[in-house]
Amino acid sequence: MAILNLLHFPDERLHTLAQPVTDFGPELQRLIDDMAETMYAAPGVGLAATQVDVHKQLFIADVSEENNRLLVFINPKITRREGECELEEGCLSVPGIYDKVAGRAREVTVEALDRHGKPFSLTADGLLGLCIQHELDHLLGKVFVEYLSRLKQERIAKKLKKNQRKSM
Ligand code: NI
Repeated sequence: MAILNLLHFPDERLHTLAQPVTDFGPELQRLIDDMAETMYAAPGVGLAATQVDVHKQLFIADVSEENNRLLVFINPKITRREGECELEEGCLSVPGIYDKVAGRAREVTVEALDRHGKPFSLTADGLLGLCIQHELDHLLGKVFVEYLSRLKQERIAKKLKKNQRKSM
């Protein structure tokens, strides 16, 4: 397994539209394992393939305390949304920034394939429900801060660029 490099906002590659997964062979299995290691090491509760510069419809999530409930979502689609969400979100591609996003549902039902291509359906609320909406956005080329005001986005981009210069 390996820790993968994460793309950081405002990297243009984060705006790439992910393509459906058709091959569930060893290359995909390795990618999922590497993404899991990367997410746990960060640490984070969700990671989309887009964030590691692989533009396939795949994301992972684990909201358990013990980091032992890895969920893999391939070619996911949200089929039901209900209510409104009041939680703040963050993103491994936008380190140190947390904010609420308008328009998130409190509960969602998602249909997807697991890592072996087997279909499943999951209904989730709370952190996992929010995480699913956030990660699915990555596959559509959207980063959560792009829902915020233009002014906030400019401040965030400036702050992240400054931090990157410092760490080089
Ligand atoms: Ni994210």
